Amino acid sequence: MRKLIVGNWKMNGSLASLAEIDAIAQAGQDYPKVDVGLALPATLIAPAAAHAGGLIIGAQDVHARPSGAFTGSLSAAMLCEAGARLTIVGHSERRAMQGETDADVQAKAMAGLAAGLHVILCVGETLAEREAGHAESVVASQLELSLPGDADPAKLAIAYEPIWAIGTGKVASVADVAAMHAAIRAKLAELTGPRAAQFRLLYGGSVTADNAPGLLATADVDGALVGGASLTAANFVPIIAAAAL
Ligand code: PGA
Repeated sequence: MRKLIVGNWKMNGSLASLAEIDAIAQAGQDYPKVDVGLALPATLIAPAAAHAGGLIIGAQDVHARPSGAFTGSLSAAMLCEAGARLTIVGHSERRAMQGETDADVQAKAMAGLAAGLHVILCVGETLAEREAGHAESVVASQLELSLPGDADPAKLAIAYEPIWAIGTGKVASVADVAAMHAAIRAKLAELTGPRAAQFRLLYGGSVTADNAPGLLATADVDGALVGGASLTAANFVPIIAAAAL
């Protein structure tokens, strides 16, 4: 399976960052076996897409509806028109801060897919849920309630992002990631049948150049969703290189 490495810039970056995006796009060309993307703030999508080359430019969220009275929101068609080819849905920061439910996330994923966007659907447990032994059941339930049933594995990837590992420098152990990704694959088999083997499963949460080789060599880890370490080519390109090994 081709590996997919996507940077999530969150609320970072300005027009001055286009040089950094260019540097990432240029370096990405050295790794033709890896799919590389950047989920950018909406203001950077059009200018970045104009000279992205093979780099997949994406958004961090999409509205479920095609148009209407939804102040501040962007539809999938608007994102496509700006040059986005991908969107994240269900990031834990949006689930927590915007109160997005699994049903909301599913509707967003369906809207993105219908418009032709690649979708990265995020799932993951809190520290309390992990400590209580519920990590796998929480993630299984998120999948069951948010994965569009007819999703094409070529267009949708799952990102497992344990919430306690995001932006904390605490990366999940390779053993924990392997166990969770196997559990996700098993749940996908229940939900999608034989298509399950074809979905790319990304790990996210404090991925760096140092831990990427170990994580990306783990069974059922088909890529990474990278926050902080995706903001500069110097930090992000070694992660792309690790995916090419
Ligand atoms: P992080 O963020 O790599 O900075 O932990 C990952 C994410 O939120 O997608």
